[in-house]
Amino acid sequence: MSPSPGGLQVSAPIGVFDSGLGGLTVLRAIRERLPREATVYLGDTARVTYGPKAAETIRRYASEATDFLVGKGVKAVVVACNTATARALPDVVARAGVPVLGVVEPGGLAAARASREGRIGVIGTRGTISSRAYNEVIHSHRPDALVFEQACPLFVPLVEEGWTDEEVTRLAAERYLGPLLEQQIDTLVLACTHYPLLKPLLARVVGEDVCLIDSAEATAAALEQLLVSESLSNTAGSSAAARYYVTDEAARFDLLARRLLGEEVDHLEIVSVDSTG
Ligand code: DGL
Repeated sequence: MSPSPGGLQVSAPIGVFDSGLGGLTVLRAIRERLPREATVYLGDTARVTYGPKAAETIRRYASEATDFLVGKGVKAVVVACNTATARALPDVVARAGVPVLGVVEPGGLAAARASREGRIGVIGTRGTISSRAYNEVIHSHRPDALVFEQACPLFVPLVEEGWTDEEVTRLAAERYLGPLLEQQIDTLVLACTHYPLLKPLLARVVGEDVCLIDSAEATAAALEQLLVSESLSNTAGSSAAARYYVTDEAARFDLLARRLLGEEVDHLEIVSVDSTG
């Protein structure tokens, strides 16, 4: 297989990392859209959740994840975690040495384009919302937009519990989204890897007039464009091997990954990426 103009092998895998399981929603979108591309996924399950942690901590975790993926010979890195993208994207870019894509720019751009009236809601973890990263990206594409942000810290544990369509989740969603609906948002960005799993419930709560933006799908589309522009698309590949690494107990990850991806998880290993330990 010939190398790209930048010297990277087009047959090399795409590296994807997240704080845990949630990034599998991004991986699924990537594997559906780019079925010829091999992937290496790192879920930092020992240190999930990133959402409430300090920016400095997230920057260290993201740097360690990047070093791990680069060590696996990836041709690009996708930061499949909104909190890590919002807090640490420049750190990842600085050390990766390969093209890097986060989830905030694709999701923010998709929202700016989709919104009819420019009234956009953004929901995510406390880390993502307090970084104001989506606000910045949306305004860079649509300066007149009104952006209303809301942290929804209960959603991640509810999804992890598998309660994606329960009464308790609907009540939490109504409470979190009420203030955004009062602002008459016409678009809502699901700015957390776990939230695509709540899409049907959220769609019912916000009603059909509000357009839901899934950062996972927007990121897969942006990755396709990035690979083309960097001459890194694996157009000849037939096998799309997927390798998975986690930093803690693998059984639960294995179960949920199979359920979420609809395919067997053949290669799953527990690794340590902690440079301090
Ligand atoms: N992956 C995180 C995100 O997208 C959600 C889970 C966590 O808090 O670590 O923000």
